[in-house]
Amino acid sequence: MIIAVDGPAASGKGTLAAGLARHYGLPCLDTGLLYRAVGHAVEAHEDAPDFEARAIAAAQGLDTGHLDNPELTTARAGSLASKVAVIGPVRRALFAFQRDFALQPGGAVLDGRDIGTVICPEADVKLFIDADSKARMERRARQLEARGVKVDRYALYHQIEERDARDRANPNGGFYPAKDAHLLDTTLLDIEAALRAAVAIVDGAMARK
Ligand code: DC
Repeated sequence: MIIAVDGPAASGKGTLAAGLARHYGLPCLDTGLLYRAVGHAVEAHEDAPDFEARAIAAAQGLDTGHLDNPELTTARAGSLASKVAVIGPVRRALFAFQRDFALQPGGAVLDGRDIGTVICPEADVKLFIDADSKARMERRARQLEARGVKVDRYALYHQIEERDARDRANPNGGFYPAKDAHLLDTTLLDIEAALRAAVAIVDGAMARK
């Protein structure tokens, strides 16, 4: 069984994907980490004229064995990730790894922006997770505060809105709900309730197959 979990920044898709993977005993890939790793690799060259070429080279040579670097989880890495994610050849360089992960025997859960539309249009179940931007900002703020980071909520809100706008406008992106995606709005749901709702959607979809 392949489960695609897409949605905007801080929508809860990563937590839900990990919860679904545990529930069904499947491996899970957070595809945002790939873009974050590429962004991180070229961070020092953000304003250089050859930024694009460097990002493409970083994507082509990416070591996918090292995606557990805590520096990849910062807001800065997220914003660099969304910048390299607009570069077509970067997306193409990361495609095969994601596709192979999805098609491994036994199935997988992948979360990102374009899993149901580009990476794995044949996924058995597609979820598109959303939540209003204030709720997403508040969740991200609490995550950061739990790690001891001081948060400027106003700045964080604008950062999230800016990243959403860039991701949605990405001409190479595929960031929209697939026609056969199940929409799940988590604005009013805590993690447990959101996971119960997601499991109900997956079980329902599989029962209809
Ligand atoms: O899911 P995330 O916040 O870790 O993603 C970071 C950025 O990477 C996001 O702003 C857009 C990009 N991304 C993408 O373009 N396609 C994906 N499948 C996953 C992430």
